[in-house]
Amino acid sequence: MQSEPLLQLKNISVHYGGVHALDGVNMDVHEGEFIALMGPNGAGKSTVLKAIFGIAPLHDGHIIWRGEKVIPAPHKMARKGIAFVPQGRRVFQSLTVEENLEIGGIIVQDKEERHARKHEVMEFFPVLKKKRNMKSGALSGGEQQMVALARGLMIDPKVLLLDEPSLGLAPKIVKEMFEKIREINEVKHTAIVVVEHNIKSILEIVHTACVLDKGKIAMGGEANAVAESDILEKVFLGKA
Ligand SMILES: Nc1ncnc2c1ncn2[C@@H]1O[C@H](COP(=O)(O)OP(=O)(O)OP(=O)(O)O)[C@@H](O)[C@H]1O
Ligand SMILES: [Mg+2]
Repeated sequence: MQSEPLLQLKNISVHYGGVHALDGVNMDVHEGEFIALMGPNGAGKSTVLKAIFGIAPLHDGHIIWRGEKVIPAPHKMARKGIAFVPQGRRVFQSLTVEENLEIGGIIVQDKEERHARKHEVMEFFPVLKKKRNMKSGALSGGEQQMVALARGLMIDPKVLLLDEPSLGLAPKIVKEMFEKIREINEVKHTAIVVVEHNIKSILEIVHTACVLDKGKIAMGGEANAVAESDILEKVFLGKA
């Protein structure tokens, strides 16, 4: 991909007190690119997404959006077109599916546009359309994860940050979830950065992959190249 990246991480370091969660991470996200972020527990994967969205403290480095430096903060990044779906399917349990979607679209100023988005998103997730008036807490785990994903889509993002969307879901539901995510990338041309532990399945659908190990990028490149290398085995077995 030759175009100027939409989003760039330049030499990002994040410290939580004495813990160096990220140490000099560089990463480019191009328009429409579909990237997997992989690595063992504690490698810093969630921190990468949080740093982009402005909820992890930047110790060093810069976030660049369309060629310009930004000081990231959630509202600002959402307005630029970045949606973050955090780990652990956080939905408002006591609110209905539709109300959850409305909250996702809260930064969309125009009421009619917000309404139209909601309907578009529900068309994309027929199961949510059917259950639009149900309390989200009464939905299955997979459906709740769909609500979380659907809520992220309410801003019609240019970049979607997904943290372990398949966590705790049954294999059949994981497959459906991946299909939906792939469809978002293909149909809407949304750039996606997805943190995922189902390495084999995710490498089959993404374009590129980044392997994180102890806060550093151990390898980044085409999904095929990462799949064929021994880097994943190395980092997961602690041999890197
Ligand atoms: N709020 C925090 N305060 C202190 N340390 C933190 C905080 N958040 C993360 N860390 C530490 O930063 C490191 C990276 O954490 P991060 O959550 O990014 O890892 P991860 O790769 O997403 O792991 P997992 O696969 O378990 O979700 C870990 O050592 C973690 O303990
Ligand atoms: Mg994580």
